[in-house]
Amino acid sequence: MLAKKYPYYLANQPVQANTDLEVRDKYTGRIATRVALADATAVRKAIVAAHKARAAMAAFPPDARRDVLEHCVRRFGERAEELAQALCIEAGKPIRDSRGEVTRLIDTFRIAAGEATRIGGELIELQVSPRARGYRGMVKRVPIGACSFITPFNFPLNLVAHKVAPAIAAGCPFVLKPADKTPVGALIIAEILAETDLPRGAFSVMVCSTDDAAQLVQDERIALLSFTGGMVGWDLRAQAGRKKVTLELGGNAACIVDADPGATLDHVVERLVFGAYYQSGQSCISVQRIYAHRDVYERLRRKLKAAVGKLRMGDPRDEKTFIGPMVNEESAQRVEQWIAQARKAGAKLRAGGERQGSMVPATLLEDVPHHCDLYRKEVFGPVAVLEAFDDFDDALARVNDSDFGMQAGVFIGTLAHALRAWDVLEVGGVIVGDVPSFRVDNMPYGGVKNSGVGREGVRMAIEDMTEPRLLVIRG
Ligand code: SIN
Repeated sequence: MLAKKYPYYLANQPVQANTDLEVRDKYTGRIATRVALADATAVRKAIVAAHKARAAMAAFPPDARRDVLEHCVRRFGERAEELAQALCIEAGKPIRDSRGEVTRLIDTFRIAAGEATRIGGELIELQVSPRARGYRGMVKRVPIGACSFITPFNFPLNLVAHKVAPAIAAGCPFVLKPADKTPVGALIIAEILAETDLPRGAFSVMVCSTDDAAQLVQDERIALLSFTGGMVGWDLRAQAGRKKVTLELGGNAACIVDADPGATLDHVVERLVFGAYYQSGQSCISVQRIYAHRDVYERLRRKLKAAVGKLRMGDPRDEKTFIGPMVNEESAQRVEQWIAQARKAGAKLRAGGERQGSMVPATLLEDVPHHCDLYRKEVFGPVAVLEAFDDFDDALARVNDSDFGMQAGVFIGTLAHALRAWDVLEVGGVIVGDVPSFRVDNMPYGGVKNSGVGREGVRMAIEDMTEPRLLVIRG
């Protein structure tokens, strides 16, 4: 399914560099393919090209931007199985989840195609005092300029889409550095973009070293840096100078199951299992902390334990696999250590087992002391912790007792509690009746506290990628 080697894209053109990077099959550990590696000069040229393309991209009409995005939608559909297989190999993502991500990639581009011709403006009433008689004001949104994007390994297609598609809709040229562990999906997207008539310099997609990528953060010709990844994002923001920075940095998402959960416990368990363990918990909104009201606690624990124990771990190519490998063995070792640390501190293991290389079995622990890494930090692995509460406000306070705030889920049967959760929880989004892991790609998406700044979700990203420009007319 994979080509022998993938070029990088510099100013819309494929480049087969002399140096390349191995991409491993995350399940077998074998080399699956290679990708051309850009050097510092190539990164600089990409920035120069994007900066030069600002005017051409701004002048590229909205219907033409929409046509580019619609072309991508069509081509992703035609190449859907290839994209899913590539994802399954390079990320170790179970094939069913991989196909789901291709569907979301298509959704995100389709949403952006719709938004491309809807970037409106505003009439401003200036006559707030006699001195403004006869003046009219209006605002339109103009592209911010060249953007740089840095994306992570866990959604190699759709988190690329969340930067690239709004940039095209907004009329911004960009340079994208995909994760070096999973670059293939982004390079296939670039191959499809190269089939379009985007102005020269509109896009560059290249894997490069972290040192060379520093230019994407520091170069003043870049107007906006959008980064999705780990806490290093805060350091990047400190180095970014005057440019606008948006960060999506993950969290340790919580889910409350109230005394009246508003659904059967079987349904709640099914959703918790999905939210905590899909793609081995490697999602920024994976369920990590579960707080259940004491009235339902015992029954929930029993059902959850049984369901987690049944999850099938193995080859991500197998349609029946639910838990595939983590991105590498170091990550699996870290998760294993955090589990051991929590158990030593008194947590009770309710489901789980031995790590096998980069595979960590779905793990459920009860009563993890709150100072443990497993409770405090982002585990980014197939682990959830469970504890009981007696008072709903106390549960809300426990959700908020975190350095992160991305999304929270609440299974609640009363409107009053649902609204209270929405009022009180310090997060970017509250999901009532489902897990925090629920995301549709036009939702405003992002976090507070350590989880980041700014929002994605196409329309919100377009807002970041455009500036308001005022026009005042007298007479
Ligand atoms: C993420 O891990 O930040 C993305 C989650 C998603 O898009 O579902």
